Amino acid sequence: MTASSHDPEKTALPEIESLQAHAARLQTLALRDLLRDDPTRSTTLSLDAGPIHADFARQCIDTAVLHDLEAWALRCGFETSRNDLFAGRIVNPTEKRPALHTALRGVGGDTQLAQAVALERRRMAELAGRIRSGALPGFRGMPITTLVCIGIGGSDLGPRLVCDALTSEGDFDVRFVANVDPDDLERELRGLNAATTAFAVISKTFTTRETLANAAAARAWLLAGGCPEAALAGQFIGITAAPEAARRWGISDSLMLTFWEGVGGRYSLWSSVGFGVALACGVEAFDALLDGAALIDRHFRDAPLSDNLPARIGLISVWNRSFLGLPSQAVVPYAERLRLLPAWLQQLVMESNGKSAALAGGTVALKTSPVIWGTSGTNAQHSYFQQLHQGPDIVPVDFIVARGSRAEALGADDDRHRILVANCLAQSAALAIGKTSDDPHRLFPGNRPSSMLVIAQLDARALGALLACYEHATFTAAVVLGINPFDQFGVELGKVLAGEVEALLAGGAGEGLDATTHALAKRLR
Ligand code: F6P
Repeated sequence: MTASSHDPEKTALPEIESLQAHAARLQTLALRDLLRDDPTRSTTLSLDAGPIHADFARQCIDTAVLHDLEAWALRCGFETSRNDLFAGRIVNPTEKRPALHTALRGVGGDTQLAQAVALERRRMAELAGRIRSGALPGFRGMPITTLVCIGIGGSDLGPRLVCDALTSEGDFDVRFVANVDPDDLERELRGLNAATTAFAVISKTFTTRETLANAAAARAWLLAGGCPEAALAGQFIGITAAPEAARRWGISDSLMLTFWEGVGGRYSLWSSVGFGVALACGVEAFDALLDGAALIDRHFRDAPLSDNLPARIGLISVWNRSFLGLPSQAVVPYAERLRLLPAWLQQLVMESNGKSAALAGGTVALKTSPVIWGTSGTNAQHSYFQQLHQGPDIVPVDFIVARGSRAEALGADDDRHRILVANCLAQSAALAIGKTSDDPHRLFPGNRPSSMLVIAQLDARALGALLACYEHATFTAAVVLGINPFDQFGVELGKVLAGEVEALLAGGAGEGLDATTHALAKRLR
């Protein structure tokens, strides 16, 4: 998505007007009627890509809407933007960077980058192997048995999600600490032995306040646990795109894994940031994760828009937000192992597309990113689903469900996975179709859209595919909205102010800070 690829002249597009007319038309129709009148919707509106089957029959769309969404995307330069992404050209013009996450999966990028990626992957696998085999002992010569990963945002959410989704009993103990709240590190360190615990400090910039504060606390914990000062470096792995800063902090070169500035933080799971995954789940599982993502990369790169699953997910999300005016979107995986997916997706979608500045200048006329939220089903049903069914706001839902359970050896009389799947399908149907009643308390209005993403089995390959699907969906949405999904200037102001408030809390004058901040700081000092 080069700065020039979204032409402002073209934003008064006939497709936008036509989509607005479709929105008005569809708002007079009920999903239940669309579904009843056309029982083939599940066939005509479904797409498959690799291990993912996606059924969009219960979205408030029809083929005319899809046609115009796709025509709009093409007019917005979708094909050029997509080529630019895979060619490693500058697609993040405000920071003058490419976006290299697909190259980490072996798709796109040049040979030099591919070689560098392969080398770093080998270093990562070797380091994981050394830790697993006990060849990298702690300060008392005992094997390291726990790795505590310290990082935040994109340096945390992806590996945390994948480890939570794929690990089983007996896997290497990998834990995650993100919050600067001391309780986070304290809870994860509870019961651990300093002599057998190593830390991975994961930070693209190696400047993030929270991460460095937690890393300093980890250092203090090791010292308090008997680690000699001289042995400290042996228990810290650094994972960063800023090796100089990591070296200054005390990371030794032999325990440093790097990645590239052109890999966005929220797209960095696929780099050495995923070290915890390789250690906990095994290098083979990490490779399978990348393979699943690569499969979707090739599909997204090569498939025409009408068959392109990530593009369709992205376009439908824009349809719901920008044309039907639905401000939020829930993501409800009916898989406990995917309970952290909504948190990962929140950063991916909202940090990427929660913007108002148009690449072509000025502000975007359409509403951009929805609020993304959600938790795992069936738990969600016993919490906020009441509002999804009968509340005043319509919230589209992405349901995600696996055909098979990962739980080993479910006995023939264990019906829990069937119950799980039944609930998932039932909720989607109830939201769409509703139920008539003369009693308003018992009325289900229906007409509440959802997508159903089905995978055969929740394994590393399917998970990689699912995550890559959402990455490319987010990119597609950015292309039609004409925004840059790869910068995040919106996080800067708060960071700067936090530094000033920190100084105020430490007794500084707090010049320039407003009266309310002063009053609250006084109370909290
Ligand atoms: O605050 C936002 C952010 O910059 C994210 O984009 C990023 O994933 C996170 O902070 C962590 O940054 P780093 O990896 O540089 O510590």
